[in-house]
Amino acid sequence: MNPLPNTAKSTVVGAKPEGASDQDSSAQAVRQMFTSIAHRYDLLNHVLSFNVDRLWWRRAARTFRHILTRSDARALDLCCGTGDMTFALRRQTGKSSPRIFGADFSHAMLQRATAKSAGHPASSPNWIEADALSLPFPGAHFDLVTSAFGFRNLADYDAGLREIFRVLRPGGECGILDFGEPQGALAALYRIYFKQVLPRVGTLISGVRGPYAYLPASVERFPSPEEMLARMKNAGFADASWTPFTFGIAGLYRGKRCRFSPTTPWQAGARL
Ligand SMILES: C[S@@+](CC[C@H](N)C(=O)[O-])C[C@H]1O[C@@H](n2cnc3c(N)ncnc32)[C@H](O)[C@@H]1O
Repeated sequence: MNPLPNTAKSTVVGAKPEGASDQDSSAQAVRQMFTSIAHRYDLLNHVLSFNVDRLWWRRAARTFRHILTRSDARALDLCCGTGDMTFALRRQTGKSSPRIFGADFSHAMLQRATAKSAGHPASSPNWIEADALSLPFPGAHFDLVTSAFGFRNLADYDAGLREIFRVLRPGGECGILDFGEPQGALAALYRIYFKQVLPRVGTLISGVRGPYAYLPASVERFPSPEEMLARMKNAGFADASWTPFTFGIAGLYRGKRCRFSPTTPWQAGARL
């Protein structure tokens, strides 16, 4: 086991929206929250990030081009929401046609994703309603698993990493794109925007109180890159790394399931 850095965040199990008392109620609150803002989610994403979100999805997807250009590849985008990261993966495939799946546990978010891909049935990803902590796929099924801004919302981060590891084939890779906390000169300014301005604008446009206050709180609670990398190694990932995007406002975690990784019950794909 890799010891986790000894900080307050190393005891954090997963997301815990205000009012939630355990993992079940946390997951339920998260699903309810995204369902309530699904109708405004895309607009808010683009407005609040000044459209930089598009660059982040594209950059993350491009990182895995070597997998996505293989026709025999299978890729899963977890917590896909309205599908923008999933579409970014699709755009990297070139002329090849790997199978791409997008999974989310909010029906309303998936409805938006389905509507967005309706005009392109031939290249549409396969949308699956599923919980990231208990995926309806056999072990060793995917060459790539990604998640953009979704992993942070899981009620149990270590269980999430183990489930990603389980469904990856030996040699497969994972990419987790999520927010970070930038350091340096920009940090103070960014914190004012993220904690004061963004929740107010988000609440105003979505008409829903809560989700946009939860966002900065969940980022603050999320493990630091150092801690996330230790957790990834403990889940079995090799070559774990973190690449900051835009001064660390976001960043991409990468890890591999080794071709010859030791077999534990979850690594073998078995469910306990
Ligand atoms: C911030 S949105 C991200 C959506 C999309 N990936 C993007 O980049 O815009 C987070 C998504 O994670 C989903 N989610 C959170 N926890 C989940 C879980 N345990 N299983 C499946 N989806 C989950 C939510 O329903 C929501 O759609």
